[in-house]
Amino acid sequence: MEGQQILHMKGGVGEESYAKNSVIQTTYLSKSMSILWQALQDFASFDLPESVTIADLGCSSGPNTLFAVTEITSIICKRCSELGRLPPEFLVYLNDLPANDFNTVFKFLPDFQQKIQQQNGHMYICGAPGSFYGRIFPSKCLHFVHSSSSLHWLSRVPPELSDKENPVINKGKIFLSKTSPPAVINAYMTQFQRDFSSFLKCRSIEVISEGRMVLSFRARRTPDPTAEESCLVWDYLGEAFQDLVAQGLIKEEKLDSYNTPYYEPYVEDIKAEIQKEGLFSLDRMEITALPWDGVNVENKCERATTAKNMAKAVRAVNESLIQSHFGVEIMDPLFKRFAEIVAADTKEVEHVGVVASLIRK
Ligand SMILES: C[S@@+](CC[C@H](N)C(=O)[O-])C[C@H]1O[C@@H](n2cnc3c(N)ncnc32)[C@H](O)[C@@H]1O
Repeated sequence: MEGQQILHMKGGVGEESYAKNSVIQTTYLSKSMSILWQALQDFASFDLPESVTIADLGCSSGPNTLFAVTEITSIICKRCSELGRLPPEFLVYLNDLPANDFNTVFKFLPDFQQKIQQQNGHMYICGAPGSFYGRIFPSKCLHFVHSSSSLHWLSRVPPELSDKENPVINKGKIFLSKTSPPAVINAYMTQFQRDFSSFLKCRSIEVISEGRMVLSFRARRTPDPTAEESCLVWDYLGEAFQDLVAQGLIKEEKLDSYNTPYYEPYVEDIKAEIQKEGLFSLDRMEITALPWDGVNVENKCERATTAKNMAKAVRAVNESLIQSHFGVEIMDPLFKRFAEIVAADTKEVEHVGVVASLIRK
């Protein structure tokens, strides 16, 4: 579970922070709004309790952290008003791993709460540090669970790859790739299944009957786990690592022992896992595909600008893990090289994600 103690998005609000480099995650959130809206319309059409408890899992720190909460409470309040009912009070849990920059989130809360209170009534907000692959909340206490851009993070590097005695080696790579041996591919797939199954089991205890979850995360449309749709960006980063090995800045064994605890599942495998567990029914599912240059704030950019923005976005997300394994001194050369490699190529893939709306049986 070491990775879960280390993993955090780059905190604060500086130029390199996740807060300033999460445009693509903001777009995923916006694209999930129609499914979120539909789930909340249905949810708020039933009699609601006086106090509704919501959890946002993998909240991170940045503009997206409070965006989802604002939307969720606004949609519920609007629906209540349409039905001529008083809106409920809200208790909101913001969950992430303990190393998350909760301090930055908490600093924004007083202003946020004051503003939202005028719109959506009383909202009480708590931080809930811990892994969503384990229990975080008491039984039957959650009415609505939301999570965006988080469930593609695994609870750990698959054990077969991190075995100190006899590891399966993914030569020169940091994630799945066309050259990955079948044992590596299977290890990643199995780890995702284990994690997603734990996630569903834990939430099934915490969410009330008929309670809802809307989950959006990275996924793939193709059964092939090494398709470029999922792997191209990681291949570019792997190439940058290999160049640093060639320059003598990193030892080859150090690179071979680094693997990213990340996986983009095939949408059909997600459906199958939900069905297999049988704890939630799958109400709706949609695929979202964002363009290659979706990392840019501006509309049309040159490849070199996209490459720079992609380097900042990938660094804001991966820095804690990479730095902890390789040391701080490789970070600047690594991401400089990454941007050069991306800029020099012409390939483009869409960034694919899935949004699933689930109901507790
Ligand atoms: C890319 S950020 C997404 C943040 C935000 N939801 C958004 O849409 O921008 C992913 C977040 O998931 C968190 N995360 C990853 N694994 C987790 C786990 N097992 N339990 C709780 N949070 C986790 C990470 O720490 C990170 O803050």
